[in-house]
Amino acid sequence: MATLKFKEASPYTKPRPQPPPEDYLYKLHEDDLAFKNNTADNVVINIAIFGIGRAGTIHLSNIVRNPRCKLLYIVDDIEANWAKMKKHFSLNDVIFLSSKQSDKVFSDPKVQAVVVASPTYTHEEIVIKSLAGKKAVFCEKPVAETRENTKKCFEAAKKAGKPLFTAFNRRFDPSFNALRQRVRNGEVGHVHTMKIISRDSPMPSIDYLRISGGIFHDCMVHDIDMMTWVLGEYPSSVAVQATANVPEIKAINDVDTVVATMKFPSGTLGMINLSRNACYGYDMRLEAFGPKGMVRVENEQPTHSVETMYGYRGPNTPPIYYSFASRFKLAYQYEMDHFLDIVLGKCETNVKPKEILAVSKIATACEESSRTGKMVELNWANEELPEIQ
Ligand SMILES: NC(=O)c1ccc[n+]([C@@H]2O[C@H](COP(=O)([O-])OP(=O)(O)OC[C@H]3O[C@@H](n4cnc5c(N)ncnc54)[C@H](O)[C@@H]3O)[C@@H](O)[C@H]2O)c1
Repeated sequence: MATLKFKEASPYTKPRPQPPPEDYLYKLHEDDLAFKNNTADNVVINIAIFGIGRAGTIHLSNIVRNPRCKLLYIVDDIEANWAKMKKHFSLNDVIFLSSKQSDKVFSDPKVQAVVVASPTYTHEEIVIKSLAGKKAVFCEKPVAETRENTKKCFEAAKKAGKPLFTAFNRRFDPSFNALRQRVRNGEVGHVHTMKIISRDSPMPSIDYLRISGGIFHDCMVHDIDMMTWVLGEYPSSVAVQATANVPEIKAINDVDTVVATMKFPSGTLGMINLSRNACYGYDMRLEAFGPKGMVRVENEQPTHSVETMYGYRGPNTPPIYYSFASRFKLAYQYEMDHFLDIVLGKCETNVKPKEILAVSKIATACEESSRTGKMVELNWANEELPEIQ
């Protein structure tokens, strides 16, 4: 009877508690419950996708499950996969083309949007031709192999009056977003240091790496984008050390391990610790530290609530996510939805062209620093600087 005096009135007599904003999966359910997408202005967008490999399969899966999309074309050169792909995703009405036949997509007025997930060296041509055909474009990072060519793509988008969205998927991750929001709310004060650990898993194939454009533009762009997107400023200098521990990576004149430091105009110091291969899973961590405290995002585990204790080995929890497809599953879904909102004119892109160009400029500076062993200074014109968001 000791606790009887604490007994409360029935929960039915009180207002129903609201779900916490942190439960982002419940938010998706609420949108479904409210039939949020089923508005009168909702239009189905006709889409073509280029490249059904590691990234393209994620986008294909999101497109076929999205009620706002109708997939018209798949362009990919591995014809041996077409029948299986058709069956797996029930793509009976979809036209399959090889890259040699891709003009059919650019000239088909029914196609409103093109998703580009083919190898990086093919992006520029597909982007330019799609924009010339008046299609909105969703392009995997990096948009082009050089900053100059990326700029050309954005100029083509401006001329066509169509959006060119760059798929920096990590911006759509709920945990990374929460860190940014807390930093932007001033919870840690002026950020003294920001640290990113970014280790890929599994190691990409040598065939992929050979045509990837190198670790700085293929991989580190994600981390540079994350750092600058959180901080809202660009570094005035970078100093980078990089090495190839894997002989096959050295043989293709690339590196697999990078440590970069950056100094920002406000005094913040940034650190990026990058590897092509972590044997324990996809290691993605962020930390912002300031005078008022620290906020960090640790690794996520798919079945995190299971704990085992065997013998005297102490408590054990399951491994972290294996790779980007699982760790950022929801982020890929959100970024596709954001793109569809842009195409429908519901919002502007939150990945601005000048931010993409800045990331490319910083990646080039990092590459130069690692090659020369010298610190590289960066100068920024006013129009290059990020907007305060
Ligand atoms: N944002 C991310 O998390 C993420 C992850 C992986 C890859 N990527 C990017 O996605 C792109 C593809 O990488 P991937 O790992 O999926 O490569 P991949 O090698 O797994 O797949 C590429 C696919 O494109 C097809 N292809 C080749 N040339 C083509 C062309 N001209 N037109 C149409 N299809 C063509 C190939 O047949 C293959 O199926 C790269 O630009 C990469 O940087 C982004």
